[in-house]
Amino acid sequence: MRILGIESSCDETGVAIYDDEQGLVSHVLHTQIAMHAQYGGVVPELASRDHIRRVVPLVTLACEKALCGLKDLSAVAYTAGPGLIGALLTGAMGAAALAHGLGIPCVPVHHMEGHLLAPMLEDPRPQFPFVALLISGGHTMLIKVSAPGRYELLGQSVDDAAGEAFDKTAKLLGLPYPGGPQLEELSKGGDPKAFDFPRPMIKNPGCDFSFAGLKTAVLNATLDHEKDLDKVKSDIAASFTAAVAETLCRKCERALKITSLNRLVVAGGVSANTDIRGALKDLMAKRGGEIFFARREFCTDNGAMIAYAGMQRFKAGQIGDDRVIVHPRWALTALKPLE
Ligand code: KG4
Ligand code: ZN
Repeated sequence: MRILGIESSCDETGVAIYDDEQGLVSHVLHTQIAMHAQYGGVVPELASRDHIRRVVPLVTLACEKALCGLKDLSAVAYTAGPGLIGALLTGAMGAAALAHGLGIPCVPVHHMEGHLLAPMLEDPRPQFPFVALLISGGHTMLIKVSAPGRYELLGQSVDDAAGEAFDKTAKLLGLPYPGGPQLEELSKGGDPKAFDFPRPMIKNPGCDFSFAGLKTAVLNATLDHEKDLDKVKSDIAASFTAAVAETLCRKCERALKITSLNRLVVAGGVSANTDIRGALKDLMAKRGGEIFFARREFCTDNGAMIAYAGMQRFKAGQIGDDRVIVHPRWALTALKPLE
């Protein structure tokens, strides 16, 4: 069985084909970064208009790369939320039209479940149960995953998401959108101990996060160094990353303790960051536990994770009806179990 997955929740159009025997057989992506960069962030209307232009050519390309035709597909999966409503609708309409025309089911997929399951595309893949740390542009969550599709929220950010903190900090340092990868580049020559930024909510019980205060601390540092900002920029970037990494590590430790688990799965855009990956790997090595990530290109938005998650929902018989429904806000914990 082959399923086509379409991702269009924000600023990336991703299309992929997943085969339940052969695994991922193709994946293609168009990023809108260059288009939004001139505005310093995602412009939702432009995002929707661009997705409309990209979906069909990318579907054709994904089929070519997988050496198959549309007739070889058993279902079409699409990101139904959370995300930008207009952007979601373009992928949803494309998927619904394709599925209807081919007479095959359409499968709505939760974007964060896509991220969470992306490490399943790697070898070795994590076994259940595990704790998942989801760190993206819109969400920061710790989830207990006791079995496929069984998600229990252990904690989340009470304000900015980790990716949002990277993006806002990057802006304060004068870096272009998208901030996360740019900040990672800048931090490379920097001293992570140069600035003693706060490790927010580290001492609070529970697994919630807060990143807004850290952003303010960075703002104060940039104001203190208004005259020599260029000299200290990479130190600020490295110190900021160290503060985020340590905060994530302490909260993961707590989540693992609460759940009595020693297996961690890390996913979402921020998990592409080398220093964050390194800090979490060190933590799990010290604990004698296991850690799993997606390859870097599957940490940020992509079609492969939607095709994979779609295949799991499809196999569980959880297909959509004739309506095209998108959910700009959608709790991961509202999903049905997969088994
Ligand atoms: O998962 P994602 O692609 O989209 C959402 O679902 O939000 O995450 C995007 C976020 C952005 O905030 C971006 O700056 C951040 O992930 N990001 C990074 C890196 N690559 C992407 N943050 C830190 N270091 C990176 N290398
Ligand atoms: Zn995402």
